Amino acid sequence: MIATTFNHAGGVGKTSIVLNTGHELARLGYRVLLIDLDPQANLTSWLGVHDARQEETVYFTATENAPLPTPRRVFGLDLIPSTIDLAVAESIIPARFPAILSLRKVLRAEPQRWDVVLIDGPPSLGQLAGLGALASDVFLVPISTRAKGVEALHGLHIALKNYQEFQSDLRVAAYIPTMYDARRREDNQILEQMRHTLPKITLPVPERAAEWNRAASSGKPVTLSAPRSDAAEDVRKVTRELIQLLELPPVRTFTNAPEVSRGQ
Ligand SMILES: Nc1ncnc2c1ncn2[C@@H]1O[C@H](COP(=O)(O)OP(=O)(O)OP(=O)(O)O)[C@@H](O)[C@H]1O
Ligand SMILES: [Mg+2]
Repeated sequence: MIATTFNHAGGVGKTSIVLNTGHELARLGYRVLLIDLDPQANLTSWLGVHDARQEETVYFTATENAPLPTPRRVFGLDLIPSTIDLAVAESIIPARFPAILSLRKVLRAEPQRWDVVLIDGPPSLGQLAGLGALASDVFLVPISTRAKGVEALHGLHIALKNYQEFQSDLRVAAYIPTMYDARRREDNQILEQMRHTLPKITLPVPERAAEWNRAASSGKPVTLSAPRSDAAEDVRKVTRELIQLLELPPVRTFTNAPEVSRGQ
């Protein structure tokens, strides 16, 4: 199963969802690959990788049809990191169609290697988002429970329709309401509206700024930086929901378990 977070709105939790549910899936025993497609490289740096080289990113896959680079092993999962060079790849991809299908091609060449591949999409509808979208079976769409959050849905659905012309069975597997503050009237109204209009919606992930910021600055997933925190419980909950919504097979082994708490 290959899924990408997809939302051109910034700061809605795309990277947080990929990193934390990805780590939780690895802890449960799934073989997980994370791919950072954002030139900001937030996923990469949050996982403590600060020395990634251009050839370790998808740059040459996207621009020169190179094979998938060898992933880094971090916290019991595989990571294809990003660097700022991906911004340059973005400007090269359009001139080299069908380069936009290159990531799809290399991932499909290794169908048994990972149980789940999670791609962290950039906050844009550009070529890097397209590279991730067309490599994927499904989208995961985090949306903040604010008016601005739902405003992004229109553009996002137009983009999905466009990608479906290349890949007709591409679909949204889950909408994930994020940054939810139960005390705010606006959040509750927006959440209600989402529940009425969107299929396959998960429980909201509550806003817990202190816990999430601490995890990001510690360079660890939330479930490692504060395993008994409410935020860690939120991660475990949404991961269980995603296992259902992504129709992942039952966990077979726990072979990953001993190394998921280690960095590199
Ligand atoms: N549930 C949460 N509560 C509070 N803060 C959160 C929560 N989830 C993530 N954050 C914080 O919100 C910020 C934005 O999250 P994140 O980077 O995951 O969003 P993004 O959609 O990937 O952003 P971008 O569009 O820039 O890639 C980060 O600082 C993150 O630590
Ligand atoms: Mg991000």
